[in-house]
Amino acid sequence: MRMTDLIAKKQHNQSLTEKEIRWIVEGYTNDSIPDYQVSAFLMAIYFNDMTDGERSALTMAMVESGDQIDLSAIEGVKVDKHSTGGVGDTTTLVLAPLVASLGVPVAKMSGRGLGHTGGTIDKLEAVPGFNVEIDQKDFIRLVNENKAAVVGQTGNLTPADKKLYALRDVTSTVESIPLIASSIMSKKIASGADAIVLDVKIGAGAFMKNIEDARELATAMVRIGNQVGRQTMAVISDMSQPLGYAIGNALEVKEAIDTLKGNGPEDLTELCLVLGSQMAHLAGIGEDLEEARVLLEENIRNGKALEKFKVFLAAQGGDPEVVDHPEIMAQAEYQIPVKATQSGKVAEIVADELGIASMMLGAGRETKESEIDLAVGIVLMKKVGDSVKSGDTLAMIHSNHKNVQEVEQKIVNNITIAESAEPLTLIHEVITTA
Ligand code: URA
Ligand code: CA
Repeated sequence: MRMTDLIAKKQHNQSLTEKEIRWIVEGYTNDSIPDYQVSAFLMAIYFNDMTDGERSALTMAMVESGDQIDLSAIEGVKVDKHSTGGVGDTTTLVLAPLVASLGVPVAKMSGRGLGHTGGTIDKLEAVPGFNVEIDQKDFIRLVNENKAAVVGQTGNLTPADKKLYALRDVTSTVESIPLIASSIMSKKIASGADAIVLDVKIGAGAFMKNIEDARELATAMVRIGNQVGRQTMAVISDMSQPLGYAIGNALEVKEAIDTLKGNGPEDLTELCLVLGSQMAHLAGIGEDLEEARVLLEENIRNGKALEKFKVFLAAQGGDPEVVDHPEIMAQAEYQIPVKATQSGKVAEIVADELGIASMMLGAGRETKESEIDLAVGIVLMKKVGDSVKSGDTLAMIHSNHKNVQEVEQKIVNNITIAESAEPLTLIHEVITTA
């Protein structure tokens, strides 16, 4: 095979065979095909798209380029959840114990914060003693014993995706549906999921800015998953304003605890129930999504989900006391209110800018080596559609520095108050089959 011929083939909008795609991915991973040829190939895909068969072949070639986590020693259907990234998104902390409380195994590999979005692993480290670095054997044992465990990324998963992603980043080929879909799905499949629930975000805080693009991406991923034997569903949810009220690590753990107690923010609770019922349903719980949802609601009411959270934390060295006494987590020295200067309705809270404001307080990393401050962040007091009076507190800044003028200004600049505004739609679409 010659790379030039394969580039030409895609350039002329002909489809490549599985063998040809595998040859390219293998060659690129082991450095026998150079960046410049793969760049041209990616650009041809960008313009000419890929067929369903090509997308699945690309996904599986990336899966097979590195280690694959073997979760077969865990009984039951292992369902994973993936979010395309957002601000204040605490769903994993709620979903792991909630879904596990129905007996569904949740073996979750999570990441640290990236850019203006927080990461589940950082949040969990806000719980005193919690250990995210457990080995594969203990991870599997804990899931079998308690139905839930969360670890940081381990192993050499999808090296082909790492290389391709870096190349896409500098060749203006990131924003291609077949390339995004195969990139995300390859990582989920390599980490051992039998079934996958996807939360595709739209809005200021998200990759996809409109519903058409989000639908196309979600459908593409659901199709790849089902084609390669992993049942997959997707939800398209709003990320124009932050999810829930809290942004920041310890603050979001407290918000997750409130949600497991049944007192969480309305939007976070709803998203967890929608995603949770898909996870439970894919694992064979309930006749349909409705029934799975009823069971989840029941386990919030009767305290089983909260109890599961305590067991899960304790099993990984975390102090379960945090559930009744969240104040044992690091707390910021200063709490500074940001006040409204006019009356009306909250019309916009720009998610990514609020995420950046929280990072500026120290809740995220500026460089790979930065230490994050687990205590700091922002707690919104209002959401889009809420009424405000001049002088009301819009948000509370939790900071370990007294001087927060720049952050305060950023928050003020990114919360719009208008004469009228409606609450936002949270769930735009649910995609169960492609
Ligand atoms: N996230 C991914 O993992 N891959 C992409 O290509 C885009 C977003
Ligand atoms: Ca939140």
